[in-house]
Amino acid sequence: MSPVLVVRQVAKRYGEHEVLRSIDLSVEKGEVACLIGPSGAGKSTLLRCLNFLEKPSQGEITFLGERLCAEDGNLFRIAPPRTLQAARARMPMVFQHFNLFTHRTAIENVMEGPVIVLRRHRDEAREIARTHLARVGMSGFADHYPDQLSGGQKQRVAIARALAMSPALMLLDEPTSALDPSLVREVETVIRDLSAEGMTMVVVSHDMRLVRSIATTVHHCAGGHITASGAPDRLLGGENPSFNIPVPAAAAG
Ligand SMILES: Nc1ncnc2c1ncn2[C@@H]1O[C@H](COP(=O)(O)OP(=O)(O)O)[C@@H](O)[C@H]1O
Ligand SMILES: [Mg+2]
Repeated sequence: MSPVLVVRQVAKRYGEHEVLRSIDLSVEKGEVACLIGPSGAGKSTLLRCLNFLEKPSQGEITFLGERLCAEDGNLFRIAPPRTLQAARARMPMVFQHFNLFTHRTAIENVMEGPVIVLRRHRDEAREIARTHLARVGMSGFADHYPDQLSGGQKQRVAIARALAMSPALMLLDEPTSALDPSLVREVETVIRDLSAEGMTMVVVSHDMRLVRSIATTVHHCAGGHITASGAPDRLLGGENPSFNIPVPAAAAG
């Protein structure tokens, strides 16, 4: 089976600033790829380039067998907006700061994608949303507004919102780093359950406990490159991750 996602020599520049220099990454179905590395390494930029929230500057991205961008001789070609939109729908992102619609309830937040993007009838979307709120343990909070929820609850709603898109690949950008320490576990548990169920994911995290428990492959990013890749045991070593690779203790950026 071909990989869900193949990234070849992807670069991203903001003007003169070369954030990603040459990224190669392949993610198989059921794989959980964790990206670690210092703040400013370009991890968020890479995730945003994968689903075209940002346009890469060069390279090739293939998702579910479809080219989203590619080099064609001297030209860099990007797939038409409809193709990118369809890909983004199958590759939803979970953000550090949740990014819920504050004026919508939990269930309305989860329904939004199925209604607007997948064009489901509202009743059907509501059922889809209920299913996924239940999956993240948030059934009892369907009619709560985000500001009535804790950070951990908001993030679980955000995960349900991604799940409602029937993702082929989920992108999670530091999903636990904005949370009070006491709320990290509930979100970790949800993410761990998803990985155990075989969800394909790319996860940026400084949370080494989470990374160790979910990663199939760990990729260390620095200087616009992936500088090392391997199984978590090999890459992170024993109990002390800083033994092999410097990993910042504090979550930042
Ligand atoms: N929209 C942007 N315009 C200009 N520079 C940006 C933009 N987004 C990110 N950068 C720069 O790209 C670099 C990598 O940022 P980021 O991807 O957020 O890193 P990380 O997630 O690894 O901390 C930083 O130097 C940041 O300032
Ligand atoms: Mg980041």
